[in-house]
Amino acid sequence: MDKFVINGGAKLSGSISVSGAKNSALKILAATILSDQKCIINNFPFIEDTNNAIEILRNLGATVDVDKVKKMVIVNPVGINKTSLDSLLVRKLRSSILFAGPILAKFGQVEMKHPGGCVIGKRPIDLFLDGFEKLGAEVEFIDDGFRLKAKFGKLKGTNIFFPQITVTGTETMMMTAVLAEGKTILNNCAMEPEIPALADYLNKCGAKIKGAGSHTIEIEGVEKIHGSYFDVIPDRIEAGTFVVMGLATQSEIKIENCNPEHLGAFLPILQKAGARLEVGKDYIITKPSQMKAVSVVTHEYPGFATDLQSPYTLLMTQVQNQSIVHEAIFEGRLFFTDQLNSMGANIIMCDPHRVVVNGPTKLYGKKLTSPDLRAGITMVLAGMIAEGTTTIENIYQIDRGYENIEARLQKLGVDIKRITS
Ligand code: EPZ
Repeated sequence: MDKFVINGGAKLSGSISVSGAKNSALKILAATILSDQKCIINNFPFIEDTNNAIEILRNLGATVDVDKVKKMVIVNPVGINKTSLDSLLVRKLRSSILFAGPILAKFGQVEMKHPGGCVIGKRPIDLFLDGFEKLGAEVEFIDDGFRLKAKFGKLKGTNIFFPQITVTGTETMMMTAVLAEGKTILNNCAMEPEIPALADYLNKCGAKIKGAGSHTIEIEGVEKIHGSYFDVIPDRIEAGTFVVMGLATQSEIKIENCNPEHLGAFLPILQKAGARLEVGKDYIITKPSQMKAVSVVTHEYPGFATDLQSPYTLLMTQVQNQSIVHEAIFEGRLFFTDQLNSMGANIIMCDPHRVVVNGPTKLYGKKLTSPDLRAGITMVLAGMIAEGTTTIENIYQIDRGYENIEARLQKLGVDIKRITS
């Protein structure tokens, strides 16, 4: 198992370019199943999760060509000849549920193992199964998985009101409804930027989707959709993570090729805490700042993103005063704080959803283990500001979401090495 070794204290300088968004590329890969022609995806992030998603497509029979230099992926879905998802690949990619809808919509049936949860939460899929049923699919539970079958061979448009906001639930029902007969209206939808991006891609392929990015999305079903090409939007979570990196190390760095608007409430919250930021159209420059604690609650977009909660919690250990970080979306996304405490932080867990952070505290290098990708990158940031050496095990979790991360950080002056065992 690879690990990272980081020596803290370096001042960073220079610029870092943001990759294409993991949480957009995964959905567009799933959406290619709906087409009957080649789909070209540019600005593609080659990371563990997207590599696994490509393997799922290949296992179904699609042809997928990749060009890591041009950062491009070409998917030809015409060869798909299977409607059951490979169980091993489903286990490796929790978001493989994304593939169920397009296969069901295109072929009238799909079978897969339950994708399972992860350390940040149980990750149920009840909202997906309810949505598929409303679109006219019969759900049959088999072993630790399920089989879906369109009752009349084809799905039928319907009204779905999500009882709670779900990002991949919204994306899945939007994709699935593209080939259903008639109109589908989705209510109480998520509004994350990856959703209008997916709708833009599908509409370029000939789908008829309106309202993506708002709480209500209308999809007019069509017979089929053709291929297209699409540029993956910048990864807003990478961008936000790098902003925290600049602030936490009191460095002036430039985060390039990002879309600051996609960060929602995150930048205003940092500025309320005293962060000095220069925000351009497609870049953010961090400046050394005297910051103070500001309490936050994670919230669906455009609120404070749950995927930026762990870097933010680390930052609050380095600023004056006390803050409360309330992780309102996932029940297991704060347990990494015990590893920050082992470095010298002073974080008190009130319950699985709330911690009190007291700052500033000096951090010391430690042996850590990355529990999930966002807590994992937070440990990398902690190692940068800690005195001494920090070792991070299980960095597969970090490689799931951050492409070639150590080389990109070394360019900024971070003393980080990957030890391959
Ligand atoms: C997406 O996960 C992202 N993943 C997550 O990013 C992100 O944290 C999350 O949205 C929230 O923004 C991808 O886009 C691949 P949800 P998703 O459905 O769609 C509950 C990362 O770090 N729920 O919006 O799975 C669920 O348990 C990942 O890149 C049900 O109860 O999240 C959670 O409490 C982590 N039943 C809440 O809804 C369901 O059927 C929101 O989950 C589905 C979800």
